[in-house]
Amino acid sequence: MKYLSHVIAILLVVTISLSCVAYRGRSAALQEAPGLKDYYRDYFPIGVAVSTRTLHTEEAGLVIRQFNSVTPENAMKMGVIHPGEQQYNWREADSIAAFARRNGMKLRGHTLVWHNQAPGWIFKDANGQQVSKDVLLQRLKEHITTVVKRYKGIVYAWDVANEVISDRKDEFYRNSLWYQICGDEYIEKAFQWAHEADPDALLFYNDYNEINTVKREKIIRMLNSLISKGVPVHGVGLQAHWAVNEPSAAQLDKTMADFAKLGLKIQITELDVSVYRKEHEMRGWATGDSAMAFTAEKEQLQLEQFRRCFESFRKYRSVLTGVTFWNISDRYSWLDNFPVRGRKDYPLLFDKALQPKKAFWAVVKF
Ligand code: GLA
Repeated sequence: MKYLSHVIAILLVVTISLSCVAYRGRSAALQEAPGLKDYYRDYFPIGVAVSTRTLHTEEAGLVIRQFNSVTPENAMKMGVIHPGEQQYNWREADSIAAFARRNGMKLRGHTLVWHNQAPGWIFKDANGQQVSKDVLLQRLKEHITTVVKRYKGIVYAWDVANEVISDRKDEFYRNSLWYQICGDEYIEKAFQWAHEADPDALLFYNDYNEINTVKREKIIRMLNSLISKGVPVHGVGLQAHWAVNEPSAAQLDKTMADFAKLGLKIQITELDVSVYRKEHEMRGWATGDSAMAFTAEKEQLQLEQFRRCFESFRKYRSVLTGVTFWNISDRYSWLDNFPVRGRKDYPLLFDKALQPKKAFWAVVKF
């Protein structure tokens, strides 16, 4: 009996020690496994859009291991950070800034002026009437100065103006309330005020559908005009909300080459690759939309597109100073609700279990 209990005790000790060694081995391997940022150390920082909510989940660990730059997905947008004329809400943006600082990561600011997610109050006076150009510009100045000064020396690059160019062939500037009230002047003013508030911050113009020839020409024309006027614009952000079927390698190369000619820095600011064919407009459900599984075919097409994208990014490394993914893993993406509400998409490099997908390996093996 005594002998038996000795044997059991010894077996127990051996089992515990072995599993400790195995656990230590596993966690060391996890910590030491290189992340995206390490594979791209000699190329450009690799960033990701985050919310305070995800930074309180296990996704935070993945962010720290894989990325060296973060962008607040919503926390710095005007509607969130400046919800009332005398009211600033710093909580979420501050907490993301603290996360970045704690983990030695870069922080991109997104975004100072945009037609979406702008607070209603900014366009209205006390009687609910639309404000004049002077009032709106004054409010924009106050907003930009306050926000940029708060994150001076912390945010290294700002998306100053977002999506001010129209997608319509017959229209140059987007016909937003900003444009209706101020004309195009608000754009250059935004850059000037941001520069005055933090002369060291890099200032970007950011837009989507940049692979479309007509839209691209307009973006380039506007940037050239800002540059010729001496407006402090330092870079162009290509959102890169792409899909398995576009851009083609040739289209992407032409896009990068055209923007590189501007003499500005380029950043890929909101990369994702939808596993569905690209559609630009929101729509209701249609036949076939319930086929939402991440099939081997989708996986293969996506892997090839990600490989093409990063081949091009590496080719343009001399002008490309950052690549940021729009969301962390396939657990959540804004594409789960766009263009079809409730249709699950899988546009990122990590799956719902936070494991690297095959596309990850296509991006890091070069
Ligand atoms: C645009 C904006 C982003 C984000 C996406 C959708 O690209 O720049 O901030 O809102 O749309 O998630």
